[in-house]
Amino acid sequence: MRKLRILSIFLTILMAGNWGKAQGRLSENIGNFKSYEKIPHGIEIAAERGKVRITAHTDDVIRVRAVQHEFAPDFSYAVIQNPLGEFVSVNDEPAKLTLTSKNLIVEVTKNPLLVRFLTTKGTVINEDEPNLGISWNGTEVACYKKLQPDEKFIGLGEKTGNFNRRGSAYENWNNDNFAYPTNADPLYTSLPFYIGIHGNSVYGIFFDNTHRALFNFGASNHRFSSFSAADGEMNYYFFGGENVAKLIQDYTALTGRIKMPPLWGLGFQQCRWSYYPDSEVLTLAKTFRDKKIPADVIYLDIHYMDAYKIFTWDKTRFPQPAELINQLKSMGFKVAVIVDPGIKVEKGYKQYEEGLKNNHFVKYPDGQLFSADVWPGTCHFPDFTNANTRAWWGASFEGLINNGVVGFWNDMNEPAAWGNRVPEFIEFDFEGRKGTLREAHNIYGLQMSRSTYEGVTKQMNNKRPLILTRAAYAGIQRYSAVWTGDNAATDEHMMLASNLINSLGISGVPFVGADIGGFAGTPIKELYARWLTIGVYTPFCRSHSEFNSVEHEPWSFGETVEDIAREYVTERYRLLPYLYSAFYETHQKGIPVARSLTIDYTFDEKVYQPEYQYQYLFGPSVLIVPTSSKTEFSKVYLPEGGWYKKDNDKYYEGNQETIVEAPLSNLPVFVKAGAIIPMQEAIQSTAEKPDGTLILHIYKGKNSSRFTYYEDDGETYDYEKGNYLRRELVYDPPKKNIVIGKAEGDFVSKFKKYKIVFHGFEKIGRIAANGTEVKLAKDSGNTASLIVDAGSNAITIAW
Ligand code: GLC
Repeated sequence: MRKLRILSIFLTILMAGNWGKAQGRLSENIGNFKSYEKIPHGIEIAAERGKVRITAHTDDVIRVRAVQHEFAPDFSYAVIQNPLGEFVSVNDEPAKLTLTSKNLIVEVTKNPLLVRFLTTKGTVINEDEPNLGISWNGTEVACYKKLQPDEKFIGLGEKTGNFNRRGSAYENWNNDNFAYPTNADPLYTSLPFYIGIHGNSVYGIFFDNTHRALFNFGASNHRFSSFSAADGEMNYYFFGGENVAKLIQDYTALTGRIKMPPLWGLGFQQCRWSYYPDSEVLTLAKTFRDKKIPADVIYLDIHYMDAYKIFTWDKTRFPQPAELINQLKSMGFKVAVIVDPGIKVEKGYKQYEEGLKNNHFVKYPDGQLFSADVWPGTCHFPDFTNANTRAWWGASFEGLINNGVVGFWNDMNEPAAWGNRVPEFIEFDFEGRKGTLREAHNIYGLQMSRSTYEGVTKQMNNKRPLILTRAAYAGIQRYSAVWTGDNAATDEHMMLASNLINSLGISGVPFVGADIGGFAGTPIKELYARWLTIGVYTPFCRSHSEFNSVEHEPWSFGETVEDIAREYVTERYRLLPYLYSAFYETHQKGIPVARSLTIDYTFDEKVYQPEYQYQYLFGPSVLIVPTSSKTEFSKVYLPEGGWYKKDNDKYYEGNQETIVEAPLSNLPVFVKAGAIIPMQEAIQSTAEKPDGTLILHIYKGKNSSRFTYYEDDGETYDYEKGNYLRRELVYDPPKKNIVIGKAEGDFVSKFKKYKIVFHGFEKIGRIAANGTEVKLAKDSGNTASLIVDAGSNAITIAW
């Protein structure tokens, strides 16, 4: 009897991990291991109820694919990096397989089949939930991971809620979301990359499945974190690494990085639904110049078109677009226009006729064209998963490009249509592989942006365009900037915007911004002022507002706000050398421009506290403290190190919480001790050449620090052929010197002189540049400065 009982307990334990049920009405896991064989870069395992491929994508990135039946040919719109890794060894023991790559260990337990990732020292970084692992529930495929007690989660891009996503769940299904509530989910983009943090470990997971997907970080359960999709393969990449920056670097090596944006794209951008007619656009441009508020880009929203037909102009409102754009150019402005995917069904309309004739529109399974209503009325929709359609769409920009348009704003590409329920069985080409909207929905915006990007870059004679999109999937950074859609004019939205922008950055998308002032509704003047002061410290900086709202220009809220706007926007232009170099870092390594403190201070619990979660570094060393417009004080957390308040150079030790004054005219901004911040004199637009002096602000620190200064022509792709200038700037406090490294690359700098400004230094006595004594000038406050000729050789400034 007793023996029988023990046997039955034993069997129950054994069965617990293996919960396959017949008839397909209940969920089932992949079951027990049966056998394995070697495949390129790894192994394929046959299990009771499926197959698993585990490959070393690189030394730090492991890919796991699983299917119930047969593997389909590999396919991804996000991944651009070929597999590079191999396991050093595969060890087969009775209870488990051990796969060792150069930097990671993967253990596969056999009964049931579960995957566990460890460091080479044997620390578990991430593991399947001991019984759940990879499983199916109908066509839904899921992977359940053991929830670590102290585990935190960041990432997934444009998601609302706390920056630490523990306790929350999210859906990926790109969604048109006018005036979304601040807790809405899903929003417009799907970026299925997140980072887990526990103990001393960090790891990343990228779930590359474009179907409707769910992520659960311990919401309504204490047992697991999970990712699942409505259909398709289990297909995820596991990233191991020492720190968050390395994970982002590897993730962006996998899915691509941004090219250098046009310098003018980093200027201030003014948008409205809509500026028309042409005379109003000219008045707008002139007002910016008259009021000396710098700006670079003016947007034309849907009213520039004839009856909202893409690639047309309204002949009454804009009778001579080329002349208008030329006039704006002479005032230092660029023009960006909106493009929506919906093509109006109208006999004789070129785009409609061509699309029909050449089979560019998506159809129902019975062959009937899919149509739905958007701005122009009834529309058909291009199939951007078809190379011919992409080429056709791209070529259609010819007229706009000939007219001088250089910015292309891809909207309504979730895809959106009135009613917000595009039927999921409409069909897509998927490069000949075929699929329905279930699989295409989340990549529609990515493929539209790609078509636009590829089409316009082909026709712009080596000039860089500005591409902007609302909907996106992983990899979008290769083609486009992203804005966070139709937010609203509230304080909560302003604060949320920082979280969205910083989370997008962690998820590989660095060129991001929110509609400054709030798109829907009208901000009170305090809100507009505060939002603008934060907005100038976001990578993509654009003010936008909805149809019929009151004016939202920087001067629309009275003189005080206008003065604040002038001061802050001007400061953004002064910071352009620093900002452009930060974009270079993201172009090279993927590290975002707006950096949540969780990137550099991952194991500091404070940075996850909701009251501090909005803070971020703009570039490597400028700390921004987004602050409600309803308060004149701000509670700040200063992480380890030292910090200088940017407006008055007051020094603060790090590792402390403090309260600072924060009137609307003075957003709390701090600079990291040891920072090197290259700046320039104020300009009104990037079309204006700065005065020839690059100003290097040095903030006294204790340890050696460096900054890579980068410059190029700001408008062509010649930097890819070596036409750039790069200098390593090193500040070494123990040695008491600054070294401006030798100029690398062929580009001749705009700056002939360097002015060095010292912040926080007590008395500097003698100072020499390359051994020759130089005169130090006393500046305002406690700064001192000196000027040296730039040249192209290294310069050592020692004191
Ligand atoms: C969408 C966009 C918004 C734009 C409007 C009209 O709502 O998100 O930015 O102004 O359409 O085109």
